[in-house]
Amino acid sequence: MSVASPPRVQILAAQVADQIAAGEVVERPASVVKELVENALDAGARVVRVELEDGGKTLIRVSDDAAGMDREDATLALQRHATSKIRAAADLIGVATFGFRGEALPAIASVSRFELETSSGDAGGTRLRVVGGKIDATEDAVRQRGTTVTVRALFYNTPARRKFLRAAATETRAAVEAATVLALTRPDVAFTLTSDSRVLLDCPPAARLIDRVRALWGVQLADTLLAVSHRAGPLEVSGLAQRPAQARPAGRKGYVFVRGRPIRDPFILRAAEAGYRSTVAPGDRPSLLLFLDLPGDAVDVNVHPAKLEARFRDKFFVEKVVEEAVREALAPLAAAVPLGAGASGLGAGAGWSGISVPLDLFPSNALGPRPQAPAPPLLQVFDTYILFQTESGVAIVDQHSAHERVLYEDVMRQLSGDGAPAQRLLLPLTLDFAPAELDAIDAHRELLARVGFEVEPFSGRSVVVHTAPNPHPRFEAGRCLQELVADLAGGRFGGWQNRLERFAATYACRAAIKAGQTLDTGEMRELVVRLLTATLPAHDVHGRPSLVQLPKDELERRFGRT
Ligand SMILES: Nc1ncnc2c1ncn2[C@@H]1O[C@H](COP(=O)(O)OP(=O)(O)OP(=O)(O)O)[C@@H](O)[C@H]1O
Ligand SMILES: [Mg+2]
Repeated sequence: MSVASPPRVQILAAQVADQIAAGEVVERPASVVKELVENALDAGARVVRVELEDGGKTLIRVSDDAAGMDREDATLALQRHATSKIRAAADLIGVATFGFRGEALPAIASVSRFELETSSGDAGGTRLRVVGGKIDATEDAVRQRGTTVTVRALFYNTPARRKFLRAAATETRAAVEAATVLALTRPDVAFTLTSDSRVLLDCPPAARLIDRVRALWGVQLADTLLAVSHRAGPLEVSGLAQRPAQARPAGRKGYVFVRGRPIRDPFILRAAEAGYRSTVAPGDRPSLLLFLDLPGDAVDVNVHPAKLEARFRDKFFVEKVVEEAVREALAPLAAAVPLGAGASGLGAGAGWSGISVPLDLFPSNALGPRPQAPAPPLLQVFDTYILFQTESGVAIVDQHSAHERVLYEDVMRQLSGDGAPAQRLLLPLTLDFAPAELDAIDAHRELLARVGFEVEPFSGRSVVVHTAPNPHPRFEAGRCLQELVADLAGGRFGGWQNRLERFAATYACRAAIKAGQTLDTGEMRELVVRLLTATLPAHDVHGRPSLVQLPKDELERRFGRT
């Protein structure tokens, strides 16, 4: 009775399958650049050249000097699931190449006019032409070892997709970004990118990441970056992190690499930013380049169509270690801003190894008092800055910022510990406050007590202050409390996430020695010693430096002594 109908379920033709795969892998010219450059690097390129025309819409060409392919391999490489990089699923664990799926070339070739020219050096080379996924011609080609892939008329046969391409300038920018990210993974490989014959990237092979950063973005940015190098258990975090005082609200660079491959991971960047706690101004975003290295079985890199995400077995551990790594990079005195030739690209930043401090500054050390030690002189200028000599130059401390940092760290300890030693006032102070300020006092009573202010409602708008902290001899308890409460009521430091930290920063700011106060030698010495033994001595709590150095090298350069 019933006539057998043809099965409705059918296997797609390979070409159709390739086009569908292309939808995931090839979104725009930048994705083609990414896939082809990755292939070049995987094959061992020392030099990678990228050419674009019309933002890559007309032409994308990637050439390398790598191993190349013989004819058989080249033909195979254009088939779906053809890869030389893994053999079995088990090889995915710890895969060290960028590619491993064997789908990029067929996917790109299915949506373009595609040409692959390659030679493995021994026999002659091969030129393959593919149109819409079908091999159209196979010819001999004379060329040096290596591979050149030319992709013309991207999406010519998928007009819906072509319509989504943006203006040439936008596509060019995205393609430059794709090449830049990969250039960061391999400073040892030379990269160039030209767009309509304009050179947009020109990176010679470099020994260090910082040299590559300089070639990509210039010395101005490179000079603001500190080295990150930290290991915890199986995880190693390295790279570069910007000095807090040099971070800006816009235009930051933020890159994460996991086992050498670029990964988009906002959580890791956020963890890194947490490491900047109490050192950057709210809203400033430091530039970060972080390379995470961990065993292959601790991370899965095969969770995203373009491999832009990774899944960690223990994400919280990774985030915690990243935060520690950044914190550690900011901690040494070397994290202080050097003054001088940064902009010229010669002095300060480039060879800056940071401030070294003469031990003699300390009246005593762990071994006990050293009564005879000649302490280096300290000089206060403009009643605001303290100058002293170090082994590497002249250090300049801002007395207010420095004291703020010292107090902030003290207060954070006190808030989580026993509280601060407070002094009972001989004559309790009576102070008047506005209604909103009285609310702020109420809301912060416990924290105020912990830093040393015991405050009690008196009558109407007045409160009585029984005890006060004593952070320095010139401290004015009443004025400090008034300013502190006004800040708390007025929402100053609103950018601070954490209530304790916000309170501590506000208190530190108001309790610290001010600019314009004359200090005697003993006070200066105590401040400097306490600053140099702080956890993050080089940064105040507002994203400004508390300490800078004029390097000796810089002085010598200026006076023509080198
Ligand atoms: N520039 C090149 N030099 C030498 N061999 C190459 C080059 N590009 C591709 N190949 C070879 O062609 C194969 C297929 O490349 P394709 O990019 O399609 O897949 P893959 O890199 O293995 O995996 P993925 O799809 O994840 O990128 C590679 O495995 C490699 O053997
Ligand atoms: Mg590939």
